[in-house]
Amino acid sequence: MKTQRIAPLLRGLSFDGEKGDIVVARETLDSAELTCTAVELTEKFKAGTRSVMVDGVGGFLLGEDYDDAVNGTSDAQKVVGRAGVINNKVCVVTGGAQGFGEGIVRELIKNGAIVFIADMNIIGANALAQQLNEQQGRTVAFGVSVNVTDEESVLKMVGEVVQKVGGIDLFVSNAGVLKAGSVKEMSLKDFEFVTDVNYVGFFLCTKHVAPVMEIMNEPSGRYYTDIIGISSKSALEGSNKNGAYAGSKFGSVGLVQSFAKELVADNTKVNTVCPGNFFDGPLWSDPDRGLFVQYLNTGKVPGAKTVEDVKRFYEAQVPMNRGCDGEDVTKAILYSVEQKYETGQAIPVTGGQVMLN
Ligand SMILES: NC(=O)c1ccc[n+]([C@@H]2O[C@H](COP(=O)([O-])OP(=O)(O)OC[C@H]3O[C@@H](n4cnc5c(N)ncnc54)[C@H](O)[C@@H]3O)[C@@H](O)[C@H]2O)c1
Repeated sequence: MKTQRIAPLLRGLSFDGEKGDIVVARETLDSAELTCTAVELTEKFKAGTRSVMVDGVGGFLLGEDYDDAVNGTSDAQKVVGRAGVINNKVCVVTGGAQGFGEGIVRELIKNGAIVFIADMNIIGANALAQQLNEQQGRTVAFGVSVNVTDEESVLKMVGEVVQKVGGIDLFVSNAGVLKAGSVKEMSLKDFEFVTDVNYVGFFLCTKHVAPVMEIMNEPSGRYYTDIIGISSKSALEGSNKNGAYAGSKFGSVGLVQSFAKELVADNTKVNTVCPGNFFDGPLWSDPDRGLFVQYLNTGKVPGAKTVEDVKRFYEAQVPMNRGCDGEDVTKAILYSVEQKYETGQAIPVTGGQVMLN
């Protein structure tokens, strides 16, 4: 048995009713509280064990958070109740280097999580992780490279996370792209690009994350984990001249419902958050390439003379009169994690712009 199985198993064996210990894999250890074979591990492991050597596999350091596991500081915060919903849980956010993903990363960390910022833009992911670790004064964030459309790359990302911390409690599949265009003119290449990232990427990530969660649940049968997609209000209502995007997001809801039915056997919940437009994010507000400046230049909004005019036009379409942001989305994520009696749902966070029937 390899590290990729033993580390999540140790997370499952150290389950405290809400989550397991952080488990850091090492090739070897100078000494260990428990030395045993892989087969003996389940029987011999006792809660509170801080170091384990597994014959022929390697060493594992356990702790409440990453620094606690590595340095044995034993000063990691223990938070219980509602405030502890995500505390010291391992979260992965794809597309976490900017936009909604960055907002979600920041909010999860504010709520005490340990977060992997998984992005094609590894420079951005590492820079954000460094900034957050400095701000928090403890190790709370890691950058990890991934292209969610490439199965090998997804496998490697999951392997890296398991090696570093032992498993995944919450996986947020946020990486997404948009290419708008008329169905009469859109190239197959553009259509497939959007489908690959938004739809196939969600499948690939779930395919390789779910088995890790399954192992974590094995020892207790009570270890709940979460896979949460970030779809869109365009997953609930068609979008004019934006079919590739809306189709990929509608499709992801079908995947969510289907995966939820299967993975409930492992206590893995699968849900998706459907946000409204993030007007303050780069997609809309980038001064050179953002949609506001594009719509101003193409005269899409009649009478608009400035970027602010275009922005106000779109804000006025939201009953709550503003765009969505990472904090709004994260509140829905935290609800999904805390709620142990719901799965397969698409949760709108749209300021009332799109409502469920
Ligand atoms: N911006 C909005 O108004 C809005 C509204 C509703 C839903 N969404 C959804 O929210 C999610 C994030 O959107 P955003 O606007 O913040 O995006 P963004 O373009 O600002 O950021 C996307 C991030 O994903 C990364 N990424 C892109 N392709 C990737 C791939 N193949 N593998 C790994 N990483 C990849 C990028 O490097 C970037 O860091 C998307 O799924 C999007 O569809 C956005």
